[in-house]
Formats: sequence, structure tokens, C-alpha cells
Amino acid sequence: MKKIGIFFGSTTGTTESVANTIAKYMGVPAADVHDVSKTAPDAVGDYDVLLFGCSTWGDGDMQDDMQDFMDGVSSLELGDKTVALFGCGDETMSDTFCNGVGEMYRKLLPTHARFIGEFNTDGYDYSTTAADVDGRIVGLLIDNVNHEDTADERIKQWTEKIRTEM
Ligand SMILES: Cc1cc2nc3c(=O)[nH]c(=O)nc-3n(C[C@H](O)[C@H](O)[C@H](O)COP(=O)(O)O)c2cc1C
Repeated sequence: MKKIGIFFGSTTGTTESVANTIAKYMGVPAADVHDVSKTAPDAVGDYDVLLFGCSTWGDGDMQDDMQDFMDGVSSLELGDKTVALFGCGDETMSDTFCNGVGEMYRKLLPTHARFIGEFNTDGYDYSTTAADVDGRIVGLLIDNVNHEDTADERIKQWTEKIRTEM
């Protein structure tokens, strides 16, 4: 049985709530859902599957706490881990929608982790996102500001997808 850890960076609680919904659908206990502002990067060593989530702030920047956390994680060797990414944003910030997810992806590339959890942005309306890597969206993007009505279903579909990819 693979052990799953969820790590989130959230300023106003939106990504935290998505993290908790993911935990519910994946059957991950609350003790394995970590606020990165209170967690050391080496905590990722306890898990086989790592789900990292953050929001996007400023001019398309990764959420502050996650920036610090990723600075630590990015120097680890995670070749034996599987990673999936998720993030929250607002599609009206159309040129930087959920950029934080793409920034986490790039930060984690040197760790040699295996990435899973690419997803669609069907029904969303934005111009560009740094989470688009060569035409693939490298994680679950959630806009709870403009599309709260579809968020739960998208989270459910994504968790079903990553379960098959783990
Ligand atoms: C000042 C400010 C800047 C923001 N910048 C972006 C952005 O560049 N891209 C984006 O997708 N969302 C942006 N957002 C929206 C937040 O990412 C969104 O509200 C998110 O749900 C917050 O999640 P959190 O509470 O987990 O931090 C911004 C919001 C504010 C208030």
C-alpha cells in the first residue's frame, strides 16, 4: 500500500480546502495533510506519493509558504517518489492563471520524481498558464472564484485519475 502525503500552501484557505477534499476522496488521514508553513521539507521522505498544492499570488507567483518549502524540497533526491500537483487561481488573471502549479513543476524537475496527474482545463477561460508544459497541463487547476460549482466534480475526477496512475 503506497503512503500518500498532501502538502499545501494556502493564504486565504482555498487551497487548504481543496487539499482536504482531495484527502477525502483519496482516503488520506488528516495527519497526512500538511500545511507547508508549519512543515519541514524533509517530511516528504515519509511518503511514496506526494501531492503538492498551492495558489498563485502577486504577478503570477507561487504562494509564499510554498516558495520556501519548494526551495527546500527542490534539493532532495526524490527518484523513488511519485508526485502530483494541484493549485488554485482566478482565471480572470488570464495571463498567469494558476502559474504556481507550473512553478512547482519546474522546481521539482531536478528531484527526478515521477510526475502523474496531468488534467484538463475544460470549461475554464484564460489565456496562458505556466502549468502548460508543451501543451500538457501538469496538474489539477481549480478556480473557486469563478467556477465553484464544478470544482468538486473536477477534484473527484482528478483523484480517480491519479489513483490509476500511482
Ligand atoms: C493580489 C492577488 C493576486 C492574485 N494573482 C493571481 C494570479 O496571478 N493568478 C491566478 O490564477 N490567481 C491569482 N489570484 C487569485 C488567488 O490565487 C485565488 O484567490 C486563490 O483561490 C487563493 O487561494 P489560497 O486561499 O489557497 O491562497 C490572486 C489574488 C489576489 C488577491
